[in-house]
Amino acid sequence: MIKISTSILSSNNRVDSIKKLNDTNCNYIHIDVMDNKFVPNYQFPIEEINKLIPLSTKKIDIHLMVEDPLTYINKINNSNIEYITIHYEINDNIDNILQTIKNKGYKVGLAIKPKTKIDEVKEYLNKIDMLLIMSVEPGYGGQSFIPNTINKINELKQLNKDLTVEVDGGINDKTIKQLYDISDIAVVGSYIINQIDYNKAINNLKN
Ligand code: DX5
Ligand code: ZN
Repeated sequence: MIKISTSILSSNNRVDSIKKLNDTNCNYIHIDVMDNKFVPNYQFPIEEINKLIPLSTKKIDIHLMVEDPLTYINKINNSNIEYITIHYEINDNIDNILQTIKNKGYKVGLAIKPKTKIDEVKEYLNKIDMLLIMSVEPGYGGQSFIPNTINKINELKQLNKDLTVEVDGGINDKTIKQLYDISDIAVVGSYIINQIDYNKAINNLKN
C-alpha cells in the first residue's frame, strides 16, 4: 500500500496540524524547507523545525530545497527523523552531503526537479535510500500534477526497480491513482490540509 507523507507547508497552524495528524493513518510528516535562493520562497526557519519535530508521533521526512543543506543538517537533530532529502540541482558536493546525512543515522533522499532527467542521477541511485521525483516545480503547495512524472518513474524502474520512490506535488485522490503501482510514498499537502477531517482525506488517498 502506498505510504502518505503529509506536507504541512500550506497549513496556517502547523502545531495544530501536526497534533491532528498524530491521530491519523498518515505515515510521515513532510517538512519543506526553503531558503529563498534555491526556490523563490522562504519557509520553516531552523528554530521552527526544531520546535515542530518533537510534537509529532509520526516519522519525519525532511525535504531541503536549499542551496546549502549542510547548514540545516548540522542544526537539526532528532531521532524521529527518518529521511533527509537534498536536491541534485544544487551547486555543492552531493556525495559529501549524502555521507554526512548517513553518518548522522538518517536515511538519505535525493530529489529531482521536473526538468531533471533520471539519466542525470544514474550514478547516485546505488548511494541513496530514496529518490524524490518532484511532480510540480518546487517552491509552493497547491500546484497541478505534471503528467510526465509517470514516464520518469517508469524510466527509473528500468534502471533500479527496488529503490524507494517518493513523488511530491499536486497529488490528490484522483492523481494518486496512477502512482499506486509504481511509487512507495506520496507527499500530499493541500489536499489533506484543506479538509477538516484529515483522516477521511488520508483514507481516500490510500489504495
Ligand atoms: C513543493 C513542496 C511540496 C508541496 C506539496 O515545493 O515540496 O511538498 O508542499 O503540496 P501540494 O500537495 O499542495 O502540491
Ligand atoms: Zn516537498
